[in-house]
Amino acid sequence: MNTINNDIKGKKILLGVTGSIAAYKAAALVRLLVKEGAEVKVLMTSTAKQFITPLTMATLSKNPVQVEFFNPENGEWNSHVKLGLWADLMLVAPASANTIGKMACGIADNLLLTTYLSARCPVVVAPAMDADMYAHVAHQQNLALLRLRGVHVIEPSVGELASGLQGQGRMEEPEEIVRLLQILLEKKVCLSGKHFLVTAGPTYESIDAVRFIGNISSGKMGYAIAEELAWRGARVTLISGPVHVVARHPKITLYKVSSAQEMYEAAARFFPDADGAVMAAAVADFTPESKVEGKLKRGENALSITLTPTKDIAAYLGSIKKENQTLVGFALEVANEHSNALKKLREKNLDLIVLNSLNDANAGFNFDTNKVCIIDRTGKEASYALKSKVEVAKDIVDTLSKWAA
Ligand code: CTP
Repeated sequence: MNTINNDIKGKKILLGVTGSIAAYKAAALVRLLVKEGAEVKVLMTSTAKQFITPLTMATLSKNPVQVEFFNPENGEWNSHVKLGLWADLMLVAPASANTIGKMACGIADNLLLTTYLSARCPVVVAPAMDADMYAHVAHQQNLALLRLRGVHVIEPSVGELASGLQGQGRMEEPEEIVRLLQILLEKKVCLSGKHFLVTAGPTYESIDAVRFIGNISSGKMGYAIAEELAWRGARVTLISGPVHVVARHPKITLYKVSSAQEMYEAAARFFPDADGAVMAAAVADFTPESKVEGKLKRGENALSITLTPTKDIAAYLGSIKKENQTLVGFALEVANEHSNALKKLREKNLDLIVLNSLNDANAGFNFDTNKVCIIDRTGKEASYALKSKVEVAKDIVDTLSKWAA
């Protein structure tokens, strides 16, 4: 894991572990938190002890683990009130459907739940369960209730589950959980009340019913930006071309589009109501003049397709942009990178432009990593090292937050 800056250092984190096979990941979570300098105390439900021992958690956290309301040997009371007041943040990971249901109903039949009810700090849950349980309306309503009350939910990821089934229910990886806690603890939830538009992915320009002109954009950069904005409290409208990545944060509303024209129409519709937009999509610059009905037949002669320019969405938003709106574009360049990026920034009336160079290895289209330089409209620029797209999204949103403040 990239060492994240040290805002976790010295923070008091109460980790609640519940009965789930993902409890083994709680050990790695404690290690990471301790490594980052946090003071960690662990609470376990009695079922959690079946999955991971208190000894493991106590050794890693360097603090005794608490399970029961009192010690039956000497009657010593484990004060949930004190624990709740002690913590800077309470994290329940893994959070089982049972515990989430009880948290939503205010049931207080174990130490973890009574502590949750006493806690005055931010509370985060990282659910882990089978996909059908996760999707069940009863569980989804419980989660919605918790969110309504300000609990932060780290959505589980999609993948192979302990049951052998595939689906959404895998607890998020410890590294990612620590990164999201970092955002909360840095008090970077400063975009509450703001609304941002993000475009992501490629566009597909139809040639006939089954063929299109597209590009290899994965959408990972745009989706990471949307998640980062949402984690900082903003409402996000994500307009996405066809991709395989998924948006998981509940503050993201996804609009799926296919062509550049559809992306333009959606962006033009939502931008006037937004505080800003990040144009991360790789929009096709040209589209076939006309689409062939049905399927184009094979022939002996050369085939030419007339292409016409698409609308430049970023330039259009730049032309209607108001004083209080911030517009961020991307520039993927091969030569004269800086001057081309600056030209785009001016011509499209952007506030910030994120420059990607095709000459940088492992950066840009279809990679998990990216290397960018962010230039603002005054010409000030900041270059960043090669990082995961999730970390790059953080840098972009940091710059955008300062600019939009
Ligand atoms: N963009 C857009 N609509 C288009 C083309 C581009 O919104 N029809 C946006 C992209 O999302 C990006 C910025 O404009 O934020 C620059 O895109 P890029 O492809 O680098 O530049 P182009 O303007 O298309 O110019 P060229 O491809 O010739 O470099």
